[in-house]
Amino acid sequence: MPPIYINDGDFAPLHGKVVLITGGSSGIGLATAQLLLEHQALVVVADRQPIISNDSSPSPGKSPTFVQADVTSWEDLTKAFQLTIDKFGRIDHIFANAGISSPVNSIVDDVLDEQGALKEPDLKVLQVNLIGVVNTIKLAIHHLRKQQHPGSIVITASTAAYQQFSSVDYTTSKHAVLGLMRGLAGHLHPHLPIRINAIAPSWTATGIIPRSAVEAAGVAIQEPSAVARTVALLMADEARNQQLIYSNEGRFAEIETDLLAEADRLRPKESSEEEDFQKILLVIRKPQSAT
Ligand SMILES: NC(=O)c1ccc[n+]([C@@H]2O[C@H](COP(=O)([O-])OP(=O)(O)OC[C@H]3O[C@@H](n4cnc5c(N)ncnc54)[C@H](O)[C@@H]3O)[C@@H](O)[C@H]2O)c1
Repeated sequence: MPPIYINDGDFAPLHGKVVLITGGSSGIGLATAQLLLEHQALVVVADRQPIISNDSSPSPGKSPTFVQADVTSWEDLTKAFQLTIDKFGRIDHIFANAGISSPVNSIVDDVLDEQGALKEPDLKVLQVNLIGVVNTIKLAIHHLRKQQHPGSIVITASTAAYQQFSSVDYTTSKHAVLGLMRGLAGHLHPHLPIRINAIAPSWTATGIIPRSAVEAAGVAIQEPSAVARTVALLMADEARNQQLIYSNEGRFAEIETDLLAEADRLRPKESSEEEDFQKILLVIRKPQSAT
């Protein structure tokens, strides 16, 4: 897993690009908006809360366009995409980033109603972190396909996307968005001019987790501005597709290739499971010959 070094010059292709960011009012989304503005991109933030003002913004005088949107609402998301197109004429990159954490593990912990019966679990974390991302990507593909010029999608996954992590709902949602990226592999680039990538930040100082708690626990924490660099790189570099960039204390590495390589070592070199799947589909779809 060789480290990636990201230079400001890598962001030059983002000049004039139109970027829609969900969850861009705080943390990683806000830091990404600021970095993109600094590099002359045109940014729309779709968030359920207004943008948190940040006096130390590296792009003073520039601000993103804000649209109030809850990613769990199809109507809100549809409006956010339409507003971006109406204002700038197109969309080039979409950052599906809005997310929440919860101390509740709804799948493990029991909540009872007044009669003592088990209540249906509250799947809010899955609604925001998974369904919100699914719907954002649905709209992204729809608009990018219509435009027919190259664009990209970046998903905020997590280190919880590929390892054991006892926050059950959160881990489920983050594994799922990585599965979403992998499932889309055969449908987007190169069939459509749409690349899709994801980021896997380690502990990052944002609104989702108190910095003081992380630091008091003696755990290292990185700034959201470091994570923003991985997002901007994935948007800017047209050679990057189906990648997962891990960030920890401002150090970066692409890990998807290595994650998939181990299982591949057990397979005969001449085929992949995807190729097997396509062969099986051909057999299933072949019209039965009349006997
Ligand atoms: N901070 C970390 O350590 C860390 C690590 C790995 C992944 N992540 C992921 O990073 C992403 C961004 O979170 P962050 O850490 O910057 O936290 P944050 O709380 O600072 O930012 C999250 C933003 O998402 C918005 N949001 C939440 N629910 C929404 C909804 N339903 N509709 C629209 N907007 C909504 C919030 O208003 C907020 O502005 C999340 O997907 C999170 O899971 C964070």
